Amino acid sequence: MLNFTFCVPTKFVFGHGVEKETGRELKALGAKKVLIHYGGGSVIRSGLMQTVTDALDAEGIAHVSLGGVKPNPRASLVYEGIELGRREGVDFILAVGGGSALDSAKAIALGIPYEGDFWDLWTGKAAPAARIPVGTVLTLAATGSESSNSAVITREDTREKVGLNHQLNRPVLAIMDPELTMTLPPYQTACGATDIMAHAMERYFTNETEVDVTDRLCEAVISTVIRAARIAMKDPRNYEARANLMWAGTIAHNDTVGVGRLGDFASHRIEHELSAMYDVAHGAGLAVIFPAWMRYHLETGHNIMRLAQFAVRIWHCEMNFENPAETALRGIEAYEGFLKEIGMPITMKELGARTEDIPELTRRVRRSPDGTVGQFQKLDDAAIERIFRIADR
Ligand code: NZQ
Ligand code: ZN
Repeated sequence: MLNFTFCVPTKFVFGHGVEKETGRELKALGAKKVLIHYGGGSVIRSGLMQTVTDALDAEGIAHVSLGGVKPNPRASLVYEGIELGRREGVDFILAVGGGSALDSAKAIALGIPYEGDFWDLWTGKAAPAARIPVGTVLTLAATGSESSNSAVITREDTREKVGLNHQLNRPVLAIMDPELTMTLPPYQTACGATDIMAHAMERYFTNETEVDVTDRLCEAVISTVIRAARIAMKDPRNYEARANLMWAGTIAHNDTVGVGRLGDFASHRIEHELSAMYDVAHGAGLAVIFPAWMRYHLETGHNIMRLAQFAVRIWHCEMNFENPAETALRGIEAYEGFLKEIGMPITMKELGARTEDIPELTRRVRRSPDGTVGQFQKLDDAAIERIFRIADR
């Protein structure tokens, strides 16, 4: 197991009706003026916004709001939020919604105290040094942004979708009522489940050995999501399934299941170019890329035993000791079958991506300083392009 430092400062308030506690929780954190940040209006239609503002009013906490966050949140609204937040002197940012509202809130929170262009922080031109505290009332189980150190923003003019990982990105408060996720369209539920599984799988596929506790935690998350997603797709109001999805989403990406091992994250980097270019849902892009990424490792014969372990422990495939690659392939096929079952695309065509864009997509994938992406195998241009070609079935 590798050395690690792990600190998640997020307070989780989880369960039935906890959104009514928002005012009390923010008061305890010393918030006096809150910027409420939200998306395209689902939280207004559901009545959640009213509940949240009532809860703030009851505690005498002032608030202003900024809606309009789009999935794959845009830099232009971040600039607007920074300006509004400065003008109004806000001391807390509360994202009410999914990962997009939250990531946009995180960018505003870092942007307010930063004197230059907030995008400098995303490109690495400057390092984050201060931020306004961020909290969320979460309505979607998917990204884990409610306690992750990550925030992903898209620049419209250049179509760059860039994630910033920094400890200051971790929210201080996550209010999580699984009931709030019951109004999600089935497609969003499925995208969320796919994303959660992918976060555990990015960590699962490591070359590190003897990391049993995190192996088993990853497997628990993945297996739970498979079961709970099947239930929630058929019975969207099933509280226990929604609750399991929601907590799985949190621990899958705040590093509870990833410490002491080197995660991969190539599938995420590659997917971000699909959602940047075609504005598709992140989870749907992952459903196309992750199986192709796995097939690439099978094709190149890399760490077949780990791929086979995934097949045996998650999909209950029988281990073929004579031919572990055959077991690994059956695992990938079972994973693809599940994705199809919950209505996810698994090919570029189904996603609406074009073959002729593959060279440009490949060029755009954000690399590590050594020019490659990923850790399971470090992928160069040829490898990334091959993964797109496998996905372009
Ligand atoms: O905008 P509204 O009207 O609220 O509608 C949203 C949106 O259309 C809707 N929705 C959310 N909760 C709902 C609901 N509709 C009905 N009932 C509810 N309870 O769902 C749609 C998608 O919302 P969005 O916030 O975009 O989804 P998600 O939470 O999947 O976030 C995706 C974004 O997060 C990034 C993705 O790349 C993408 O930009 N990620 C962020 C990560 C992080 N910060 O740690 C990690 C992830 O890997 C990911 O990259
Ligand atoms: Zn993700």
